[in-house]
Amino acid sequence: MSVAVTGSIATDHLMTFPGSFSEQFVEGQMENVSLSFLVDDLVQHRGGAGANMAYGMGLLGLTPVLVGSVGSDFDDYDAWLQRHGVDTKSVRWSDVKHTARFTCTTDVGGKQIASFYSGAMAEASMIELAPVAARVGSLDLVIIGPNDPTAMVRHTEECRERGYRFMADPSQQLAWADGEMIRSLVDGADLLFTNEYEAALLKQKTGWTHEEVLGRVGTWVTTRAANGVRVEQTGAETIEVIAVPETKPVEPTGGGDALRAGFVAARQWGLGLERATQVGSAVATAAVEVVGTQEYDLPRESFLERFALAFGADAADEVAPHLPQSPRSA
Ligand SMILES: Nc1ncnc2c1ncn2[C@@H]1O[C@H](COP(=O)(O)OP(=O)(O)OP(=O)(O)O)[C@@H](O)[C@H]1O
Ligand SMILES: [Mg+2]
Repeated sequence: MSVAVTGSIATDHLMTFPGSFSEQFVEGQMENVSLSFLVDDLVQHRGGAGANMAYGMGLLGLTPVLVGSVGSDFDDYDAWLQRHGVDTKSVRWSDVKHTARFTCTTDVGGKQIASFYSGAMAEASMIELAPVAARVGSLDLVIIGPNDPTAMVRHTEECRERGYRFMADPSQQLAWADGEMIRSLVDGADLLFTNEYEAALLKQKTGWTHEEVLGRVGTWVTTRAANGVRVEQTGAETIEVIAVPETKPVEPTGGGDALRAGFVAARQWGLGLERATQVGSAVATAAVEVVGTQEYDLPRESFLERFALAFGADAADEVAPHLPQSPRSA
């Protein structure tokens, strides 16, 4: 049984300017701005929420099916994902556009000038899920991660129509989506994932109360950074899971995607909600302790050791049989 991960696939190009942007702007000349910054560092990272989640599941031994749209520049990234166990055969390659790209320059004061090119991602709405299901046999779960908005709506509707279990993960797309669109993305989801801020935004925009949201989904998982994770279901006791103690975040971006990857993998292994959330937290810790969203690794022994310290030896014993013997390394 396969998990399909729909969502953005993108690369980040991060540059550092060894000066201060504000000193470069000439007062009174803003309408004539023409600036070029000589940067002294360029780092490229593979990213995009869909690809990040698929990467994490691949590390944990699943073969997630990545579903999204990319450009002809995707070869290296494709090879990387395949090396980490991701099935990329349902990724759609655009004939005309490049893979989505985030380009950001940061100055010495941490000020940023960035652009996001959505590129081939805009074509994700042309993807139908039924052929994906037919190719892999059946789909156990479809993750609807942040992506081209039309694609998110289309995938969700197709899931409802065809009866595929789905996980609503609108994340940053909640910021601009209106109430009607958010209600359509969430209604009938088996799982809903938000962080705490997104949870508040979701309620505000949909007009639904907390209980009404819970009534529309099977399980609602809310991540709260260092404060842990809350897992709620109508009529069941709320589960609270702590964040891994002594987590030393270097860059928190990607923690959310890693947490989802760990949670979904552990559920696929057949573990309960609490244990799966713990696995998610442990994977998230690995992700936030490195720069980049697909730069972490999950070495079996140290992962289990830290897991046992955080959640107990019995919990670790339950997880151990499912972790790949020799994990695909980053
Ligand atoms: N400071 C931290 N200490 C411990 N764990 C953390 C910390 N920050 C993030 N995490 C881990 O990452 C998970 C997701 O983080 P968070 O709740 O901030 O989600 P998010 O805002 O969606 O993240 P992202 O930036 O990836 O979108 C947390 O549930 C936790 O397991
Ligand atoms: Mg997030």
